[in-house]
Amino acid sequence: MISHQSAKEEIKQAADIVSVVGQFVQLRKAGENFVGLCPFHGEKAPSFTVNQDKQMFHCFGCKKGGDVFAFWMEYHSLSFPEALRDLAERYNVQLPEKHFTAEEKKKADYREKLYSISELATVYFRNELAHPVRGKPGRDYFKRRSIPHDIIEEFRLGYAPKGWDGLKRFLLGRNVSLETALAAGVLKRSDKGHYYDLFRERVMFPIMDLTQKRRVIAFGGRVLDDTLPKYVNTPETPLFHKGTCLYGFGAARRAIRETGRAVVVEGYMDCLALKKHGLKEVVATLGTALSETPVRKLKGIGKEAVVVFDADEAGKAAALRTLPIFLNERLSARAVVLPKGHDPDSFVNSNGREAFSKLLDAAPSLFDFYMDHKLGQGTENIDHKVNILEEILPILAKVHNETQRAMYIRRLSEKCEIAESVVISALRRAKQPALRDRQSSEIKRGLTSRDTNRSIGEIQFLNLLLHYPETVADLKGRHCRGLISDPMIRRIVDVIFEGSARSETMAFETIQERLDDHEDRVWLREFGFRPAFCSDREVKQAVRDFIQKAQKKKIEDSFKEAMGNPQALNEILKRKVAARGPFGS
Ligand code: CTP
Ligand code: MN
Repeated sequence: MISHQSAKEEIKQAADIVSVVGQFVQLRKAGENFVGLCPFHGEKAPSFTVNQDKQMFHCFGCKKGGDVFAFWMEYHSLSFPEALRDLAERYNVQLPEKHFTAEEKKKADYREKLYSISELATVYFRNELAHPVRGKPGRDYFKRRSIPHDIIEEFRLGYAPKGWDGLKRFLLGRNVSLETALAAGVLKRSDKGHYYDLFRERVMFPIMDLTQKRRVIAFGGRVLDDTLPKYVNTPETPLFHKGTCLYGFGAARRAIRETGRAVVVEGYMDCLALKKHGLKEVVATLGTALSETPVRKLKGIGKEAVVVFDADEAGKAAALRTLPIFLNERLSARAVVLPKGHDPDSFVNSNGREAFSKLLDAAPSLFDFYMDHKLGQGTENIDHKVNILEEILPILAKVHNETQRAMYIRRLSEKCEIAESVVISALRRAKQPALRDRQSSEIKRGLTSRDTNRSIGEIQFLNLLLHYPETVADLKGRHCRGLISDPMIRRIVDVIFEGSARSETMAFETIQERLDDHEDRVWLREFGFRPAFCSDREVKQAVRDFIQKAQKKKIEDSFKEAMGNPQALNEILKRKVAARGPFGS
């Protein structure tokens, strides 16, 4: 059986970080690196950087970074053992068991239990749907909503029958602890401590994650009639964070990549109806407003989102609320507002795919939609006009495409009958606070940056050791450490020299791993992305310079010490004599 470390290495060989990350983030080559928009924080210019040689990523904005495992963990919200297992499976690497720390293992085991309970519940709901008698209401319901068999299969739809303990007994029969099932969100517990099924007499929609296996992490369950609440969803669990998920994302991912667009609807049924009609790039929000996290994930793989809203006021309001998110995340978005009385499900079922596609193609940008909505309530009242303008300007300030912005400015001025120049100067004022904030935060970042306190010499010294590891042996033991006054750089250099003392050639990553302080590791990772300060030809000279400087510094230091403190000089001399012994050496 191979060791954990070598399995990790083997996975790294196979799972090239650029191709792994590239599945989730659009990367483009920029010099030695690949860059893209960070999936972990909102940003406008790409500061998310991937280096193929080092097999590392680092975001210069949010400072997240690490190797392919770190990416996988962060992106999919997984623990290290889970990420390891996932990637091992994907890249056909056999994994030894039990090489994790006790704590890692405990956490992973617990989460694994939650996954397996969700999986068991999925199986149970599917069995129940297939049951000749108990499953009939569910099958009839799907028939009524014209959901065909292949969609039921692909999305693993199911049925939770009548009764309080069907799932509970099913789980007990498989030795599942009820307390864990409660934590997995499929059971509930009464005040008196009785466990019972959360989902009863409902058709079931499993919510799956984005990994290859599309593991079930939660459920939505719909009643068969008009009883309220119409939908019950799994509560927040360690596996499921409602605001960060999109229904059908795993199934749509490839199509989103291929078509470049994601069609975002509001409901499970809408998503499935569109799927049935052949629209593959469709996902649904989980009844919550669209938030940043899923938008960032969409942005990674598609070029635009087309968001489909119901015609009612609530639908329009929801459309307007998503605008700042798309603008902030800089994902182009267009809005489709359906004819009155329709949602995507009813529309596509009565008018067909072609008609729906036409709506998609004709959809105006979300900002156009927003302006029309605001200005549609046109008025002669000057105060009202000013109000509208003031509401629109901060949002308009976030439109980053200049041509688009110019167009909107013209339309705004026409509609409100305000001179374009006035709109422009008002816009400038609206933009200022944001500009000021940014500038001041940049200045602050600059000031707090630890680099400002470091001498160029020590920065170059470390840069040399990292870019030309062969210099480590030459520089070690030459008093170079004395050149470094910054404690952090000292810690890093110590790690490098210690490794070399054991004649190890240390990978960049190993150096990071041996640093105790998290901040040191982050700093070093970022530092590692800087190019070498000298060329191959200049290396030898640089080494000589550093050695010379170190020697000089050493002499200076001991001289200073002796000058200031004759006592110390005496001590040093005495110690030297003692060390040599009476006969010298
Ligand atoms: N939703 C929810 N809880 C509710 C109502 C709705 O979680 N009480 C979520 C569900 O994810 C649902 C989505 O909001 O799919 C949209 O709600 P709605 O438009 O009412 O649902 P539809 O999918 O259109 O449901 P149906 O067509 O079955 O009535
Ligand atoms: Mn509906």
